[in-house]
Amino acid sequence: MFLRFGLIVTLIIHSTHALVHRDGVGKLPALGWNSWNAFRCDVTEDKIMTAAHELVNLGLKDAGYEYVNIDDCWSVEAGRDPITNQLMPDPITFPSGIKSLAEQIHALGLKIGIYSDDGTKTCAGYPASLGYESLDAATFAAWDIDYLKYDDCNVPAEWVDQYEHCVPEPRDSYPGPFPNGTCPSEYYSRPPAPAEYDWSTSNTTQRYNAMRDALLAQNRTILFSLCNGGQAEVRSWGNSTGHSWRISGDITANWARIVEILNLNSFQLDTVDFWGHNDADMLEVGNGNLTLEENRSHFAFWAAMKSPLIIGTALDELEEGLVGVLKNRWLLAFNQDEVFGGPARPYKWGANLGWTWNRTSPAEYWSGMSVGGVLVLAFNPLGSEEKKEILWSEVPELKGGGDSFEVTDIWTGEDLGCVSWGVERVVPSHDTAGFMVGKECRSSSTFADERQDL
Ligand SMILES: *[C@@H]1O[C@H](CO)[C@@H](O)[C@H](O)[C@H]1NC(C)=O
Ligand SMILES: *[C@@H]1O[C@H](CO)[C@@H](O)[C@H](O)[C@H]1NC(C)=O
Ligand SMILES: *[C@@H]1O[C@H](CO)[C@@H](O)[C@H](O)[C@H]1NC(C)=O
Ligand SMILES: *[C@@H]1O[C@H](CO)[C@@H](O)[C@H](O)[C@H]1NC(C)=O
Ligand SMILES: *[C@@H]1O[C@H](CO)[C@@H](O)[C@H](O)[C@H]1NC(C)=O
Ligand SMILES: *[C@@H]1O[C@H](CO)[C@@H](O)[C@H](O)[C@H]1NC(C)=O
Ligand SMILES: *[C@@H]1O[C@H](CO)[C@@H](O)[C@H](O)[C@H]1NC(C)=O
Repeated sequence: MFLRFGLIVTLIIHSTHALVHRDGVGKLPALGWNSWNAFRCDVTEDKIMTAAHELVNLGLKDAGYEYVNIDDCWSVEAGRDPITNQLMPDPITFPSGIKSLAEQIHALGLKIGIYSDDGTKTCAGYPASLGYESLDAATFAAWDIDYLKYDDCNVPAEWVDQYEHCVPEPRDSYPGPFPNGTCPSEYYSRPPAPAEYDWSTSNTTQRYNAMRDALLAQNRTILFSLCNGGQAEVRSWGNSTGHSWRISGDITANWARIVEILNLNSFQLDTVDFWGHNDADMLEVGNGNLTLEENRSHFAFWAAMKSPLIIGTALDELEEGLVGVLKNRWLLAFNQDEVFGGPARPYKWGANLGWTWNRTSPAEYWSGMSVGGVLVLAFNPLGSEEKKEILWSEVPELKGGGDSFEVTDIWTGEDLGCVSWGVERVVPSHDTAGFMVGKECRSSSTFADERQDL
């Protein structure tokens, strides 16, 4: 309760410069692919083009995925061009250059993204954009770039924020615990901000706004993806600065980490709407040792929370079943809904009491409104199968709307017809049952009966 109260009361939302583009770019969560989770620094133009071709071949482009994003390590590590000061593509790994790559990707009907950082070097130690914002934005625009992921490593001392914001997740200097999602004093390496501190005046905001302004000065729409790990309370100003913002440190292909991010984001969904999205980080579907159940729960919740959906695996090695998960039409339609901007939200916790902060056992019952109906998910975070009961009378979007609805199972595509009261499923460990609940079923007799009862 404390946490929820705190977030609602102290979050001052700033909306002076919301990045609304006439062409609609950035209104909905971005869909695409990025090189980092699959290849880290071992990235080449061949791998980028393989991903682009596979997006087309596997039908992922037709399903809506459009951005092909190069992450860190694409440039000459030693430094900028000594004459022009421009960033230079690595001549060995990107021999064709970025502009030529952009041309090839655009020819496939896709868009291209690139990566930089608001410090002196990127996270992997390559030249970064602090002080070069206008030059780099102009270079990216000249290369026909469509998307910029902007990281937050190697910030020099004179740019470090005076205060530190609480991001309640383990790090080397503080492993936890985080009672109810709060940060104890041992967490802070700099003082916590006073309660009414306005983070939109912070040094971090200024560094990100410098790149925002440089991008807006170009004659080209470039989606701006903020990547500062939820620091500097980015949720309170991110909507004025970029189209999405990370809310946590990096994801890994580890189930425990995925659930930790789900729990964290479940308490922060009030900053998700058109034009601005919490980024739960790039997908690990297809990586590590996730089971089918874990792969699809991960995808279902990232889609339902309206996170950008950026695939992070080697697409030429992806199993057929997982291609199907990434193309799930109900989840993608929910994520990309043009009419309802809000995410699905928890309506009941399950194993734990409502609003319990728990890094291994987050909220289990979720729902959200969409053009296609009400998406309802029931998640099993526990180690063994569980019987899950979804009752229409408990789902906020259905309450009072009737007893019987047209229902589709989002995993099998099975049309369950008119279903009264709700659905019950035995859900395997770490799996998620999901349903699209459509129109109310009103046969004239039941309608009449109801009227007679009144
Ligand atoms: C956490 O929140 C729960 C539910 O509101 C409350 O019962 C509990 O005392 C809180 N625990 C701490 C450590 O603040
Ligand atoms: C900006 O950084 C400097 C150096 O760390 C610091 O003294 C100053 O207080 C910071 N300003 C803000 C608004 O955090
Ligand atoms: C801006 O870009 C458009 C489309 O690429 C082009 O037609 C137009 O001439 C450009 N405007 C300026 C001022 O460069
Ligand atoms: C972000 O800004 C857009 C455009 O002004 C607005 O429509 C949207 O509701 C804002 N998002 C949030 C969470 O306030
Ligand atoms: C889920 O993805 C992992 C890689 O993360 C893969 O090894 C596994 O086979 C997938 N599960 C299924 C059944 O598709
Ligand atoms: C996957 O790997 C993690 C850590 O590497 C381990 O804790 C977990 O048990 C593994 N899960 C499976 C299903 O093998
Ligand atoms: C998290 O929730 C699970 C399920 O209720 C429980 O077993 C576990 O002890 C909880 N963890 C903490 C740290 O409270």
